[in-house]
Amino acid sequence: MSIRASSEPIRFAYWVPNVSGGLVISKIPQRTSWDAAYNRKLAQIAEDAGFDYALTQIRFTAGYGAEYQHESVAFSHALAAATTRLTVIAAILPGPWNPTLAAKQIATISELTEGRIAINLVSGWFSGEFRAIGEPWLDHDERYRRSEEFLRSLRGIWTQDNFTFRGDFYRYSDYTLKPKPGKLPEIFQGGSSRAARDMAARVSDWYFTNGNTPEGIRAQVEDLQAKARANGHSVKVGVNAFVIARETEEEARAVLQEIIDHADPDAVKAFGHEVKNAGKASPEGEGNWAKSTFEDLVQYNDGFKTNLIGTPDQIAERIVVLKEAGVDLALLAFLHFQEEVKYFGEEVIPRVRALEAAREKRAEAA
Ligand SMILES: Cc1cc2nc3c(=O)[nH]c(=O)nc-3n(C[C@H](O)[C@H](O)[C@H](O)COP(=O)(O)O)c2cc1C
Repeated sequence: MSIRASSEPIRFAYWVPNVSGGLVISKIPQRTSWDAAYNRKLAQIAEDAGFDYALTQIRFTAGYGAEYQHESVAFSHALAAATTRLTVIAAILPGPWNPTLAAKQIATISELTEGRIAINLVSGWFSGEFRAIGEPWLDHDERYRRSEEFLRSLRGIWTQDNFTFRGDFYRYSDYTLKPKPGKLPEIFQGGSSRAARDMAARVSDWYFTNGNTPEGIRAQVEDLQAKARANGHSVKVGVNAFVIARETEEEARAVLQEIIDHADPDAVKAFGHEVKNAGKASPEGEGNWAKSTFEDLVQYNDGFKTNLIGTPDQIAERIVVLKEAGVDLALLAFLHFQEEVKYFGEEVIPRVRALEAAREKRAEAA
């Protein structure tokens, strides 16, 4: 089955650095900060640069040396309040959150921000984190079954009066939330295993996956979209990438090498051990990180694999290739966020838009 690229412009999101250490497990000096003032300014720079979304992260413990972590929903609200167009996607982890609280929190933030709040429903990969906070660690596919019930509960609460639901994890009886969000918040879902994809193909608005080659992404998207069609469901795709855009390819490659040379080996190995075990626990016996090398793991969502590393021209061309593989949104991380998000907006996004326009013209002429 072939994938048709969307005629919509590809969207851009950035990872909010609300966790210390930036988006790499490396001791390379970074001007990125996890604090509130830095992040408010970054959000403003990003919306001016042409980004539509920002994604916050949720961590309760430091899995790989990320020592400080601001909570995602409160932080997302602060960023939405500091901007006027950006939609902020708040990561939510079933277990610590239940759908009742999440539905109410997000409905209130939606009211406060003219609907500029969305959620990323994550399912957990770090058993040590769950142990530390006294949450039961469910088997891999059980975590996704719980996430799906969580999502169905949220949507039910947001759209129905007298919501009634009988799940294995959550139950509602004639529950009516007031006020409901004026605009239904979009639900993104992070995860890359078969269970993650199957869930997205049934219920999620967006499927967020780790970085990968265009061929790897295309295979995932084909599987996802075939299943979604069979379910009569429509789902969009966001892919992670770590961007290193420099005037020359040599400069960009040198920065990548420097990040890897400064990697914190113990933290990378501990992270690799954790995620490979988490993947092995899935029925297919391998997770998304099964084939990740030490170098890949330095960006903890495989963002180097997507290879948005080079000149603005090279990066723009590769983004269009991703779009042709069925990607609707590029989720991007940077080394020095403020400066590099601005540079990306000035040098890369206009090139992507020009390539998209040329492609549309060719399609019309054909
Ligand atoms: C884009 C993206 C963002 C994620 N954000 C978080 C997060 O903030 N907190 C978290 O605990 N897990 C996060 N995850 C992890 C996923 O929810 C999931 O647990 C992990 O990818 C393993 O899933 P898998 O076994 O389906 O591959 C994220 C995953 C992706 C792809």
